[in-house]
Amino acid sequence: MINLKLKTIASFVSPEDIVIDTCCDHAYLAIYLKQNHLCKEVYASDINIHALEVARKNITSSKLNITTYLSDGFKSINNSDIDTTVIAGVGANTVLDIIDSAPQSIKKYIISSNNNWDELRFSLYQRGLYIQEEKAVLDKGKFYVIMLVTKDYVKENKLSLKYGKSNNQEYYLYLIKKEQEVLAKIPRNKFMKRLNHKRNIYYLRKIIKRISDC
Ligand SMILES: C[S@@+](CC[C@H](N)C(=O)[O-])C[C@H]1O[C@@H](n2cnc3c(N)ncnc32)[C@H](O)[C@@H]1O
Repeated sequence: MINLKLKTIASFVSPEDIVIDTCCDHAYLAIYLKQNHLCKEVYASDINIHALEVARKNITSSKLNITTYLSDGFKSINNSDIDTTVIAGVGANTVLDIIDSAPQSIKKYIISSNNNWDELRFSLYQRGLYIQEEKAVLDKGKFYVIMLVTKDYVKENKLSLKYGKSNNQEYYLYLIKKEQEVLAKIPRNKFMKRLNHKRNIYYLRKIIKRISDC
């Protein structure tokens, strides 16, 4: 029932966490966490009433008791027990909006944005939120990046923010392929533009070498 992305998200949850899945949709993650006793407590919320109705049906048919909220991010949630949030399956701008509405009680963010992973890393860093761990997983032909983020400072540089810190070589090979596709479309006389992408490919190859040397 639960896919590899959601399982990987669950792997970042600890038994003492009080979790809310803020974009729960079907609530599969919350159900999985509760059924397997992977956290102290779990809540589920969504901005969409229809999604939430499906979530409630799934929770009831799983014979579980999970409190749900209809809410845009944290805007309609008043529960200061919650210390961990999952924000997954939405774009980077929505991830950031939800983070910006999060209460101080949130200590841990588990994030899987649908897009713009590099810009998201920069924006998190600017907000004083630091990626402690990152995993890239391939699920049904699509890569997902899952970030474990807290307020504990982690030194970063331009490259680590751009490419992250997953240990998945396949993911970096995929990024190289994407860079090569872009490069192939740039006319030969656009020297500087081509150089940027060649440089990116060079850095990505270095990352792959570093991973394989470990
Ligand atoms: C594609 S589903 C993701 C489901 C699950 N989290 C996953 O990653 O597989 C995206 C869900 O996010 C919800 N959503 C989008 N923007 C939201 C917001 N600002 N606050 C809460 N939920 C939101 C949508 O209604 C939808 O149910």
